[in-house]
Amino acid sequence: MKILTVIGARPQFIKAAAVSRSLQHRVTEIILHTGQHYDKNLSKVFFEELDIPNPTYNLGVGSGTHGSQTGEMLGKIEAVLIKEEPDWVLVYGDTNSTLAGALAAAKLNINVAHVEAGLRSFNRRMPEEINRILTDHISDLLFCPSDVAVQNLKKEGITKNVVIVGDVMADSLFYTAEKAAQKSKIIETLGLKPGNYYLATVHRAENTDDPHRLKNILEAFVALDAQVVFPIHPRTSQAIENYNFDLDLENSNIKFVEPMGYLNMIRLEQSAKMILTDSGGIQKEAYWLRVPCVTLRDETEWVETVESGWNVIAGGDKERILHIIRNYQVPEEHPDLYGVGQVGQEIIDCLIEMSD
Ligand code: UD1
Ligand code: UDP
Repeated sequence: MKILTVIGARPQFIKAAAVSRSLQHRVTEIILHTGQHYDKNLSKVFFEELDIPNPTYNLGVGSGTHGSQTGEMLGKIEAVLIKEEPDWVLVYGDTNSTLAGALAAAKLNINVAHVEAGLRSFNRRMPEEINRILTDHISDLLFCPSDVAVQNLKKEGITKNVVIVGDVMADSLFYTAEKAAQKSKIIETLGLKPGNYYLATVHRAENTDDPHRLKNILEAFVALDAQVVFPIHPRTSQAIENYNFDLDLENSNIKFVEPMGYLNMIRLEQSAKMILTDSGGIQKEAYWLRVPCVTLRDETEWVETVESGWNVIAGGDKERILHIIRNYQVPEEHPDLYGVGQVGQEIIDCLIEMSD
């Protein structure tokens, strides 16, 4: 059996690594990198650290508006699919690379398997929400991380070939956590005291493209009682530079650092007193690592983490963010969520079974 994996953005490398590791020569995998993320610390570092095989194809699409970026991917992926004739195209998550991969395959009547299917924010202003709805509706096999995801699909009439497998990001995290704790020296390099800093990431369009909201978030960080380590996505650094806020960020408690490799990022998560983020993946990692998380969005797809009390939705208002951080109470319970690290294996087993 031949699988063609389409990936292009940071979290997809982390997700796909878990599946690639589980192939064990039972399946031939061709990796196609769209080139959506291209900076070394948003792309290559993950291939190196997670032992992902080099992509056979790198389309070098790069950045652009949604239509032009997705459109360029679509045409170029189609050409590869015609040449490679895979049995399955495997797509991950909800980026423009996900949608382009799924659509190119579906139009050629090639089977599409969607990993991380059924997630919904119910906010169609998010580009990711459009990508995931469309991808789910043209997929032939849908791998869901949770029962809520299965129910979301059911409400949209999708019930065939829907499988709960858990979340592949758990595989990568559990595979890496011990290595990160032993090998990463990032705590020492940044001169941090474990348990005495906040870890922040912000990259969602709803925050970076809204100056008022981004300023509120930064003002909340500046008002906190400890250092805020902030590995900054290029989109966010560009936004901060463009908006030219009247904030003295250079002399503040915010420690801006380059986007981290995976090992260093996990190490920073492990020792943070709290994580402040709008990332999807990091909300779950915080949960698995039992670190309190405050989500800088108005909603989340990962509702189970909020129900558990380990994640709190804070939106983008300074006072509300600060109120939530200052009044946070660690819950007593920590139920298992989204699987315990065998998801890549289950996905491969299921694909093989479907193809028999
Ligand atoms: C994308 C995904 C988002 C995901 C995120 C993971 C879409 C619509 N969005 O958002 O769902 O959470 O990746 O990090 O697919 N840039 C660089 N170097 C790079 C890549 C990007 O400087 O290697 C800059 C460019 O100015 C670019 C901007 O970041 O315009 C945004 O990049 P893009 O890939 O369009 O979206 P992300 O915000 O990264
Ligand atoms: N991540 C990383 N370095 C960073 C920021 C994030 O390795 O500087 C990892 C993080 O640990 C998680 C994934 O990237 O595994 C999340 O990706 P991101 O936040 O870019 O996207 P999202 O999950 O929101 O789609």
